[in-house]
Amino acid sequence: MNSEKTLKAIEAVSKVGIIPVVVLNDAGDAKPLGEALVKGGLPAAEVTFRTDAAEESIKILSREYPEMYILAGTVLTVAQVDKAVNAGAKMIVSPGFDPEIVQYCLANDIPVCPGTQTPSEVIAAYKFGLDHVKFFPAENAGGLPMIKAVGAAMVNMKFMPTGGINATNVREYLECEKIFACGGSWMVKSDMISGHDFAAIEAKAREAHEIVKEIRG
Ligand code: 3PG
Repeated sequence: MNSEKTLKAIEAVSKVGIIPVVVLNDAGDAKPLGEALVKGGLPAAEVTFRTDAAEESIKILSREYPEMYILAGTVLTVAQVDKAVNAGAKMIVSPGFDPEIVQYCLANDIPVCPGTQTPSEVIAAYKFGLDHVKFFPAENAGGLPMIKAVGAAMVNMKFMPTGGINATNVREYLECEKIFACGGSWMVKSDMISGHDFAAIEAKAREAHEIVKEIRG
């Protein structure tokens, strides 16, 4: 059974539909990045713990753009869960299925979306009472046909595919009822961020938002 907080988190992520997966090397880029995403109609970001700037970036985005839904991505340790939540992250996302992280999040009522790839990992998530998981790396792990095949067995499970998704193939993912949101970096590529091309980020975010609207109304 999902807690009230988790239900709200799932609703928020589903509503945005496409979650920009961000690697920020410089927390100074967080504010203009947030502005571009909000203006583009995609008020969400999965800020990955792949750089030292992740924690500070989450703090800045949460403070400056309370209307944004901030997820922490690439969370590999319980210590990172604490850092992410204290910084303002509303959901913990990990690339793989780590029972320790899932257990810790559930015990502390922290919404969590662990990575899965195989039926066994999806079943492990199900046994923890989860009904929303990440599917990563989506295109490498069999893409939409794999989600449909695994999802046919796991009738109540919904997926957030991430990895190899772009403006061209995202439509077919979003059209699948097993998918509650998609993640991707195509609208927030590192070179766009480091080159401070926030106009391009805003344009890609808008394009992604239009796709969500087109498919989900
Ligand atoms: C990642 O691992 O960086 C995310 O899953 C995004 O993948 P992408 O760059 O293929 O969109």
